[in-house]
Amino acid sequence: PVDASTALEEWVRPVEDWPVPGVTFRDLTPLFARPEPFAAVIDALVDIARSAGPVDRVLGVEARGFIVGAPVALELGVGFVPVRKAGKLPHTTLSTSYALEYGEATIEMHADAVAPGDRVLVVDDVLATGGTLAATADLVREAGGEVVADLVIIELPALGGRAVVGDVPVHSLTTY
Ligand code: PRP
Ligand code: HPA
Repeated sequence: PVDASTALEEWVRPVEDWPVPGVTFRDLTPLFARPEPFAAVIDALVDIARSAGPVDRVLGVEARGFIVGAPVALELGVGFVPVRKAGKLPHTTLSTSYALEYGEATIEMHADAVAPGDRVLVVDDVLATGGTLAATADLVREAGGEVVADLVIIELPALGGRAVVGDVPVHSLTTY
C-alpha cells in the first residue's frame, strides 16, 4: 500500500508559469487519476478529521474541494455540503464575496445546509491566500454553525493563508 507522503511526492505535478508567469501551479489531477495514491491521501485526511472530534457535516468548495471533500464525508459517515460559485445553487442561499489569488469570487451555500450548532469540517485541495476558507467560515457562522477545522492537501505558506483563516485550526498534508 502507498502512504500519503509518497503519493504526494510522486503524483503532484508542478506546472511552471501557470496560470501566470512566475507561478508554479501544483496540479493534483495526476494524483486524482490514481486510485491507490488518491485513497492514501483521503485516508490521511480522514485520520486528521477523526482527531478533530465529531462533526455533523463536511463542506467542500467548488470545484476541487468537491473531489476531496465528498470521499472524506463518506468515510466519516456524515453528510456532504457543496459550497458553490455564485448562481449555481437552486434553493435559498447565503452568499459572500472575497479576494482570490487570481481575482475575485462570490461563493454560496444553501441556507438550510448547516443548522445552528452544527460542527463543520471544511475540506479543500489547496490553501493559498486563505480567502476561500475564510469566506467559507463566514457562511458557516452566518448559518449558526461552527468550523471545527479546515483540512487541505496542500498549503502554500508563502501566501500567508493561515493568518487570513484566523482562529480555525488548519491541517495540511504537505507544503510547497
Ligand atoms: C482554488 C483552490 C482553492 C482556492 C485556494 O480554487 O481549489 O479552493 O483556490 O485559494 P485561496 O486560499 O487563495 O482562496 P479556484 O478558486 O481556483 O477554483 P476551482 O476549484 O474551481 O479551480
Ligand atoms: N495549485 C493548485 N491550486 C492553487 C494553487 C496552486 O499552486 N494556487 C492557488 N490555487
